Amino acid sequence: MRHLMSPLDFTTRELEQLFDLANDMEQHRERYAHICEGKKLATCFYEPSTRTRLSFEAAMLNLGGQVLGFSDASSSSAAKGESVSDTIRVISCYADICAMRHPKEGAPMVAAGRSSIPVINAGDGGHQHPTQTLTDLLTIRSLKGRLSDLTIGLCGDLKFGRTVHSLIHALVRYENIRFLFISPEELRMPSYMTEMLREKGIAYEEVIRLEDCIDSLDLLYMTRVQRERFFNEEDYVRLKDFYLLDKEKLSLAKDDMLILHPLPRVNEISVEVDDDPRAVYFRQAQYGVYIRMALICTLLGLTGEEGGNIC
Ligand code: CP
Repeated sequence: MRHLMSPLDFTTRELEQLFDLANDMEQHRERYAHICEGKKLATCFYEPSTRTRLSFEAAMLNLGGQVLGFSDASSSSAAKGESVSDTIRVISCYADICAMRHPKEGAPMVAAGRSSIPVINAGDGGHQHPTQTLTDLLTIRSLKGRLSDLTIGLCGDLKFGRTVHSLIHALVRYENIRFLFISPEELRMPSYMTEMLREKGIAYEEVIRLEDCIDSLDLLYMTRVQRERFFNEEDYVRLKDFYLLDKEKLSLAKDDMLILHPLPRVNEISVEVDDDPRAVYFRQAQYGVYIRMALICTLLGLTGEEGGNIC
């Protein structure tokens, strides 16, 4: 049995196989429509979500399986004080695989340690969001045709943003990646991340103004300033509108630069940008379904005719 806690749980070769399977599922939906018949996915979400929870559920339904779960800790027995360890032991009696989101870093890892079914980390506090990272990598690979030789700008909340931390950990395994970290002083990339990059010899620069570097980017990964991670409202209000990607700034970018965003968006990308062919954040959300379909099948040890068993 295998869990997914971090994108690094898969080797780059296993990721290639997972992406191939996801692309095959996109092309041949009908081939996989019954592969999970008789299987159940539990979604245990102790924190709000639209995309991650619903794309997991859509993925399992697309595969012919069934879903159960809760979307709010207050409607589960966590509200009565039940531990994650006890909850997962019970969920293991009801389902074949579990996707768990939790505000506490490491909670899905604790669950995995007590589980008799595969557990997928669907986001733990400011730590990791591995299935978002798999979604991002699949989007880049599918639309750019490669995961190497890229200059990547990450913009917004780089301090608390678990999606950017997970993505960087995954991308440093590819050749010739250069990062530009675009953030206000208060939301800079944590030093443990920049130290890791220095140790690996990966090039990065820290920049405050998006317009100072957008012309050099192959990929711009925008993020929201996350109200829920701030300790005081004043700091959030001061920083929430620091960046706005609009048509004027986008006019400085390369014609083939991709704009990704894990979503939800608040104010950081103007809706006037949505129709630009470079804006691929809604296609990214669609890729999130295919990668979760591939992941569920892989962790359950199920194979498609074309996909092969990658476990
Ligand atoms: N990208 C993402 O994690 O979105 P949700 O919080 O809506 O799941």
